[in-house]
Amino acid sequence: MRIKRIAILGGTGFVGRSLCNHLSQEGYELKVLTRSREYNRDDLIVLPGLELVQTNIHDPEKLKLHLADCDAVINLVGILNEKGNSGKGFKHAHVELVEKLISACSENGIKRLLQMSALNADATNGKSHYLRTKGEAEDLLHPNNAGINVTSFRPSIIFGDNDSFFNRFASLLKMTPLFFPLACHATKFAPVYVLDVAEIMARSLNDPESYNQRFQLCGPQTYSLKDLVNYTAQTLGLKRKIISLNDILSRIQAAVFDFVPGKPFSTDNYLSAKTDSVCEYNDLARYNIQPTAIESIVPQYLNNTSYRSHYTEFRSAAHRD
Ligand SMILES: NC(=O)c1ccc[n+]([C@@H]2O[C@H](COP(=O)([O-])OP(=O)(O)OC[C@H]3O[C@@H](n4cnc5c(N)ncnc54)[C@H](OP(=O)(O)O)[C@@H]3O)[C@@H](O)[C@H]2O)c1
Repeated sequence: MRIKRIAILGGTGFVGRSLCNHLSQEGYELKVLTRSREYNRDDLIVLPGLELVQTNIHDPEKLKLHLADCDAVINLVGILNEKGNSGKGFKHAHVELVEKLISACSENGIKRLLQMSALNADATNGKSHYLRTKGEAEDLLHPNNAGINVTSFRPSIIFGDNDSFFNRFASLLKMTPLFFPLACHATKFAPVYVLDVAEIMARSLNDPESYNQRFQLCGPQTYSLKDLVNYTAQTLGLKRKIISLNDILSRIQAAVFDFVPGKPFSTDNYLSAKTDSVCEYNDLARYNIQPTAIESIVPQYLNNTSYRSHYTEFRSAAHRD
């Protein structure tokens, strides 16, 4: 069956906005389910064919109802931190939601689902709540347990305008004069561009060869966390001495940040960062997608030279604040 109308969970976030843009341009009808329509409406509701619906996706009846007129589902819901450290928040957002999603898809006869996971997701060996619950969610969905054709996407960190990686380090570097203490400095990442992620998700949607696959997604190069933070400082023209914390100090820094509002770093993040986030093979190649390098994109948004970064100015000039 040709997919026409897609429900997107977590579609208001960083990845979701790029994906919605991409799918809307390809002519799909999109139903984005959100906890707050007001908060998230701005640049999403202008996309052709997109309906933004406020609901509680954790309520099985509401979820089932909202999926009733859809042919496929994309689940982008993910959290990096929870209240407390028990793992319950991760379980709720990653595992219990997927259980409800499987039921809602089965009851509505939906046969196609794209699941956003993460590199190193592993129900048994994952080092953090984040990685274990992402792994549990994948295992519920594969291999085709519920008669739903699932593709899971396992990216390294994702970069692009409004990402939470380079932008967060940029803010932290600006706040920290001279010395910047860095936990988990040697962990390796292969940052992948958000538009490359959106591209492979869109291309796989109608591709039976992607059914029941778990795609690893990486950028063209691998860097240590220290390289990436140094690169962020250089791009911003900031002179900072990065101080590499050893494992014990990294753990202590995470434990302290557990109590900082908004948790800029946490014990769970520290545990996730104990494993390198790099691909064994890069599945972007399956679709001939050339991975985009950070050097060609990151300076544009960190230095506010991208077109999108001027939207607020444009709105203000047009008296549309
Ligand atoms: N960004 C990365 O570097 C990266 C790397 C690897 C994997 N991923 C995965 O990619 C996915 C998207 O990441 P992102 O960076 O776009 O995240 P994001 O910007 O934080 O967006 C996630 C979205 O999920 C929804 N959400 C969050 N917590 C929820 C909850 N408890 N219940 C219901 N909905 C909730 C939110 O939608 P509403 O507020 O509208 O309800 C939010 O817009 C996640 O699954 C993440 O784990 C991201």
